[in-house]
Amino acid sequence: MKAVILAAGLGSRLFPVTQAVPKPLLPLANRPTLAYAFDRLKEIGVHDVCIVVGQMEAAMRDALGSGRAFDVRLSYVRQTEPKGLAHALGFAREFVGDEDFCLYLGDAVYSTGLVPAAEKFRAGRAANVNLVKEVPDPSRFGVANVQADRIVRLVEKPKVPESNLAMAGVYFFRSPIWDVLPGLPPSARGEYEITDAIQALVDRGESVLASVLDGEWFDTGTLDSFLETSRFLTDNGHLFGESARVEGEVGEHVVVGEGAVVRVGAIRNAVVLPGARLDCEGLVERAIVGGNVVAPSLVNTIAYGTQTRVA
Ligand code: DAU
Repeated sequence: MKAVILAAGLGSRLFPVTQAVPKPLLPLANRPTLAYAFDRLKEIGVHDVCIVVGQMEAAMRDALGSGRAFDVRLSYVRQTEPKGLAHALGFAREFVGDEDFCLYLGDAVYSTGLVPAAEKFRAGRAANVNLVKEVPDPSRFGVANVQADRIVRLVEKPKVPESNLAMAGVYFFRSPIWDVLPGLPPSARGEYEITDAIQALVDRGESVLASVLDGEWFDTGTLDSFLETSRFLTDNGHLFGESARVEGEVGEHVVVGEGAVVRVGAIRNAVVLPGARLDCEGLVERAIVGGNVVAPSLVNTIAYGTQTRVA
């Protein structure tokens, strides 16, 4: 089995940091976010991975290269414009060929492995098996209406959800998916939705199944969710390497990347990128910081160099 990781989004909710560093490379517990995706894929025996990249292609290739440092074999394809998940997947058609594959959203981090979902897919002949997870706020996601373990209907970000089972960012496919992609119309938000592609499989009478994730699922797209994921990983002993030294009072949940030089009044619940220079007499709290930043205080803030944004 192969894998396709979608990593071509703009990461706009983490601007200005993601204007300098692509979101899939942002460090979580001192490792690039995508390293956690590679771990999960290797656990299910997948080493051949195609990353769909966007305008940050050069930075992605520089950082991840052939994948050897992560024990995966990486290929890259470029999505011309971020026009949706199904549109992004289309660029990986040649890489996948007629093989079975796992589609993985690059901003997802899981506390447990994908083994049960992969086994369900491998054991049967379903055209598609999807990771789903109960959430309190299904309207933010693709939502699955599931009977037994069959998905009978799927809606992207419904105003009135039919269930609280969200599509949780990992999808296993056999070749029928390639038949439905070309005919897909754009959605109301103007994107080609993977949810609509899967609904098209259901409409054709293909077997489309759900596999409920028995564990935590984090999406790293916002300041809150990014810091929550960082906290979860470091609390569970995943910190790689050592945090760089900080001059000032250091509270809980602080990760400072290699080579960063940090002088603060106090810092808590924050991630400082490798090589950053941070000079802040006051408090740094709920912040992501990169580049060369001088500020009186940084609270609820994403900062890169001279640009800051309160999130
Ligand atoms: O997080 C799970 C949700 O992800 C699912 O429940 C939804 O059904 C699915 O549509 C998707 O919704 P989002 O609106 O949250 O997707 P987002 O724009 O955050 O993109 C997810 C990943 O795909 C992210 O790593 C960026 C990448 N991407 C996104 C777009 C729109 C691309 O590579 N190309 C794109 O055109």
